[in-house]
Amino acid sequence: MTSVSCGLLTPSRSQTASIQEHIDCIVNDLMASLPPAERLSADERRGMIARYSAVLEGNFIYWMTGAYLSVGSDLARSIIIENLHEEVRDCHPGMLRKFAMAAHAVPKDTDALAVYRSLSNVRLFIGRLSPVPIVVMMAFFEGFIQRFMAYLADLAHRQGSAEQEYTDVHGVCDVAHTKELFRALEAEMTLADESGKTTENILEGVELLQTLIQDIVAKPDVSSAATDKN
Ligand SMILES: [Fe+2]
Repeated sequence: MTSVSCGLLTPSRSQTASIQEHIDCIVNDLMASLPPAERLSADERRGMIARYSAVLEGNFIYWMTGAYLSVGSDLARSIIIENLHEEVRDCHPGMLRKFAMAAHAVPKDTDALAVYRSLSNVRLFIGRLSPVPIVVMMAFFEGFIQRFMAYLADLAHRQGSAEQEYTDVHGVCDVAHTKELFRALEAEMTLADESGKTTENILEGVELLQTLIQDIVAKPDVSSAATDKN
């Protein structure tokens, strides 16, 4: 699903600048669609933190590893490996688990089911290891996470939690991560041009991840998720 207000990519500008502008627009739309935290019930706050944790804790490093396996340029490899080092060395999944526990929002089976379909679609996309669309998706993800942190911290605070290490760290470090991933994208697009490879839909991963984020924010109907084979 592509944001209507963000329109199409504009070919007249440099391609990465045009992609960055488009992605910024999608992030702005997602941020504008968030329900005001003060209007959410305790259960709605818990659910949003839990679904976010269910997706991020076990998948962020996996997806970034997929990006690493897919890229062909030395620059992109070095940027992504630095990102992975930070994730593993500073134990970001552990940081997120502490954050969810302190907010009484450890994911339950229903939280995992609520994101099952859209999460599976992102996993299958990553498995195809298409370098340019994956790097675009991860740049989008870092950009979104960085903007989302203040909102997530507010939800946890309203849950009575004082644990903010995860949101503090990601509100800052993901600014640099986003910038670096756009450098990686530039390198991968140059490599693809040189080798004559074409990518059908550069934004495929962004669109799948956008749907997944929408499911994190607004709990979808989970009644058919358990039996859905799609
Ligand atoms: Fe992280």
